[in-house]
Amino acid sequence: MNIRNFAIIAHIDHGKSTLADRIMEMTATITKRQASAQLLNSMAVEQAHGVTVKSRTVRNIYHADDGQDYEFNFIDTPGHVDFNYEVEKSLSATEGAILLVDATQGVQAQTVANYRLARKTGIVVLPVVNKVDSASAEVDKTEHQIRTAFPELKDSPILRISAKTGAGVHDVLEVIVHRLPAPTADNSLPLKALVFDSEYDAFQGVIAYVRLFDGGLSAQNSLTLMASNRSFKAKEIGILTPNRLSQKKLAAGDVGYVITGLKDPQLVRVGDTLTETGRPTETALPGYAPAQSMVFAGVYPQDDYPTLKDAITKLALNDPSLHVTAAVSDALGPGFYCGFLGIFHLQIIKERLHDEYGVDVIVTAPNVTYQVTPNNGSGAVLTVTNPQHFPDFNTIEQVEEPMMRIELTTPAELLNDVMSLANQHKGVFVDMTNQDELVVLTYTIPLSEIAYSFFNELKSLTHGYASLSTSFANYAPADVVRVDVQINYAKVDALTFITHRNDVADQAQKLVHKLKYVVPRRLYPMPVQAIVEGKAIARVDIPPLRKNAAVNGNSYSVSKKQQLLRRQNSNKREAAHSDIELPQAVFNAILTLE
Ligand code: GTP
Repeated sequence: MNIRNFAIIAHIDHGKSTLADRIMEMTATITKRQASAQLLNSMAVEQAHGVTVKSRTVRNIYHADDGQDYEFNFIDTPGHVDFNYEVEKSLSATEGAILLVDATQGVQAQTVANYRLARKTGIVVLPVVNKVDSASAEVDKTEHQIRTAFPELKDSPILRISAKTGAGVHDVLEVIVHRLPAPTADNSLPLKALVFDSEYDAFQGVIAYVRLFDGGLSAQNSLTLMASNRSFKAKEIGILTPNRLSQKKLAAGDVGYVITGLKDPQLVRVGDTLTETGRPTETALPGYAPAQSMVFAGVYPQDDYPTLKDAITKLALNDPSLHVTAAVSDALGPGFYCGFLGIFHLQIIKERLHDEYGVDVIVTAPNVTYQVTPNNGSGAVLTVTNPQHFPDFNTIEQVEEPMMRIELTTPAELLNDVMSLANQHKGVFVDMTNQDELVVLTYTIPLSEIAYSFFNELKSLTHGYASLSTSFANYAPADVVRVDVQINYAKVDALTFITHRNDVADQAQKLVHKLKYVVPRRLYPMPVQAIVEGKAIARVDIPPLRKNAAVNGNSYSVSKKQQLLRRQNSNKREAAHSDIELPQAVFNAILTLE
């Protein structure tokens, strides 16, 4: 069988999933009706946001114009900047990628970032301009942008399509047949398969998605995962159409799945090489580095802990880029401290917990990782991901924070706005290049400045015309402080956060004022204070609820009422406790500080 393995890559919303649906429909993998339901974006969060979160693999059989049948294995990848990791994994399982560019928007930051990932993997890139049916499409201009931004593609034809109507998609299928190489896989060699993705099923255990580079895979043989050095007998192997379809054998070059039956997901690491136990391959595939968490936050149950524990453990099994450790907060009780790829990933996890498991959670303010050198001369460096573990200021020699290298792609007329946004967020200008009317700005910027709201600010400032791509640069010294928040004289550990010293006065003021309206009131007034390095730098008093004395007391004399109020006020001295129920709004108050 002729095989072609490829990924579809693009900036967010440029039409990958729509093209994937059209290809499946044109190869009769699915029916028109199924396609209209956007089969691949099956998670509730994906449908709600209209974005792809997880890559998906599908096998199609294409009857080409040359009269032959071709097996197309394609992987639909996510476009959001947080999920670059998913794209990288997918590309290493293919020989080529369709680079889709929306003719109404042109080349954007993720177009460039994904193109670079594809080049790094060394695969063939097929540029395609999409949405040519749209009234605002600027097809020639987009094509010109592709030629200037990616000079390496100068000899490549650029196809023009509408993934929506299907116009031109047939040509894409033909170009895949003629321009993408068939995998150079040798069936006679020992099995060498890359685990490029995995999923957890409560009944079946870990299901590995594999690309066979050499050798065949038979359901009968014992298999070995080389990095984790674990052998097992597969419960089932097969292909994705897009649902799982069981097969007796997979051939070299194929993409498919293996139900491992293993219950411990640590054993089936993405990037590992799968081989045959009795006839192992000599060298493992290079694999790839595990996903780095960029943003950390506490996740606590609104209802009961066991339900959350069950849900989040299952979710982490399915999403290896979610890192989960148990944590206990004085204010919120037992919960988890989690690492995410970015703030969008955090939001997706929160929504998946709600949609798929019916669990509502409180998420504490997100935080980045700091490297703290204590001044005790030990030379040891602490890695602090949870602000509650940030050491006291008088024990610190130096703090380093993660810096990112970002590229902002913007139309020239918005250049000033975008530059001032980057400056406000402590960006340090590195470089600027022009591509027609598009300007690409490079900055280094603290991760803490871009991790939370930067992307949304950029989008609203430029009405969606500017885009962002990020990569880790280095750790650099930073003047940051820990802010502790006290409500009614008791420290609320889950509200502790780290911020730059320059911003702390302003942020602390804003925070306490916001908390005044979101902390549930008591019968006595409660001060809210922000404490930095032992000093209260901001304070407000939450007024008391006075319903007993002042409202119901019409049978009392005035002096009796006053006496009651005095007594209520004096209750605060029993004070210094934190049995206050904290709603999510309290934590959002920190999130929206700018
Ligand atoms: P992510 O997975 O989030 O990165 O998005 P995507 O690239 O998969 O984009 P998707 O296919 O979800 O399409 C985004 C929007 O563009 C949807 O509203 C589509 O209906 C629309 N769209 C896709 N292709 C075309 C097209 O050819 N013409 C027009 N007019 N609209 C299109």
